[in-house]
Amino acid sequence: MELKKEDIIEVTIESTGFEGKSVARVDGMVVFVEGAIAGDVVKAKIYKTKKKYAEAKLVEVVTPSAQRTTARCSYFGVCGGCKWQHVEYPTQLQYKQQHVADALEHIGGFKGLNILPIVGSDEVFYYRNKLEFSFSDKRWLTEKDMDAIPNVEGKIVSPNDEDAAGQQQNPMTIAAGFHVPQRWDKVLDVHECFLMSEASNGILNTVRAFGVKNNIPAYSPEGETGYFRNLVIREGKNTGDVMVNLVTFEDSPEVMERLAVELREKFPAITTIINNVTKRKSQVAVGEYEKIYFGDGLIHDTLGTHRFQISANSFFQTNTKQAEKLYSITKEFAGLKLTDLVYDLYCGTGSIGIFISDSVKQVVGIELVESSIMNARKNAELNNISNIEFLAGDLKELLTKDVAWKEQYANPNVIIVDPPRSGMHPKAVEELGRMKVPTIIYVSCNPATLARDLQMLAKDGYQIEKIQPVDMFPHTYHIECVVKLVLG
Ligand SMILES: C[S@@+](CC[C@H](N)C(=O)[O-])C[C@H]1O[C@@H](n2cnc3c(N)ncnc32)[C@H](O)[C@@H]1O
Repeated sequence: MELKKEDIIEVTIESTGFEGKSVARVDGMVVFVEGAIAGDVVKAKIYKTKKKYAEAKLVEVVTPSAQRTTARCSYFGVCGGCKWQHVEYPTQLQYKQQHVADALEHIGGFKGLNILPIVGSDEVFYYRNKLEFSFSDKRWLTEKDMDAIPNVEGKIVSPNDEDAAGQQQNPMTIAAGFHVPQRWDKVLDVHECFLMSEASNGILNTVRAFGVKNNIPAYSPEGETGYFRNLVIREGKNTGDVMVNLVTFEDSPEVMERLAVELREKFPAITTIINNVTKRKSQVAVGEYEKIYFGDGLIHDTLGTHRFQISANSFFQTNTKQAEKLYSITKEFAGLKLTDLVYDLYCGTGSIGIFISDSVKQVVGIELVESSIMNARKNAELNNISNIEFLAGDLKELLTKDVAWKEQYANPNVIIVDPPRSGMHPKAVEELGRMKVPTIIYVSCNPATLARDLQMLAKDGYQIEKIQPVDMFPHTYHIECVVKLVLG
């Protein structure tokens, strides 16, 4: 049977594959179905066909899988944030565990590895310490919204129609929420999100209502007009600190002062209110400059016994409780001694290095982003840590070309690497392999690039002693791993 766009097929879902998409087969051809899970029998509509596979959207669940559950969030399926809310949490964990094993086998060529049972998250909702909402004058409408507005573009809404979620342009509209996948011009208007905290929802709704009440529009990239761009809320999960950071197109102290008074009245837990102002076209929620309207522009949080200072734009692991587990595992795997010199590569704001600093002689942290290095130094100072140094630079260059720094900090006993999703640069992996350090701890947020890099390190004589998957992001397909490598 040849599959064509718009075909509606009935299939049984076999497994969960790449990026959490479910896999079915029609006459041997793989069909990825969004929104289904293994064991479901579904009707799905084909929207993309390639030589070796097709992609389809769920139309109807004919027979639900035993692992299917009801998604808690009413925006599920449109928002794109929590792709697995319809899967029971223990099953999500099984999928993630399997995904790690599959990537290491299929990409890395490793079999029979010691992959420990995944460490799940105690909290599966309200676990994030940071959420970034967007504003727009163009609201993406869900089917429910469309029902409430019966005559949008004269369309009658049919359930599960791919086009059912339409759009409405209205100069008075302030949509506040998340961009739906692949639609960067429109924002899904969200009133409740279960990822951060009840307070974060209240803050979001208050800011939106303030704009509507005072006739202050959302930023429009086409006209380069309007005011509200993003709302970033950060919370110290272990300290109770709350930061509200409003990113705006204009600098309007009068508006910000009024908004700050209203927010503080309604949410006494807020400890700082900031305004990042930017005229840039880019959608990144960072200002060209920043103004503080309440508090000191910072929040604090703790990881283990260490305290971290977090500014509006600095990196901090988004699931505090799981980050503590991840770092404890990293520390334990490293088997540290008080005589050890440790390199903490891709160190961000220095949190791993600081976390382990009391168990070693010295730590050297390396990171590309200058502002993160400044934060890392501040965090070390805040914790009275004197045995840690931070260097800013591209790791590939610092390992292969600009190597003068190594003379000062030669021969580490342990190297910890925690690269971004793209993994390490091949030249950096090559150099890491040549250094012949007895223990390498690889912390990874992407099993595919992890498998690729481990394959290279294996060729240099490294053996994989154990792998610990850790779930930092329930309801998503993302998975973090800590790997212990020893020189064979
Ligand atoms: C996954 S984060 C790790 C952060 C940190 N270890 C932590 O747990 O908070 C990866 C870090 O690698 C940094 N990075 C990306 N490319 C880099 C490069 N070529 N050289 C050095 N650092 C880089 C990023 O800026 C980011 O801070």
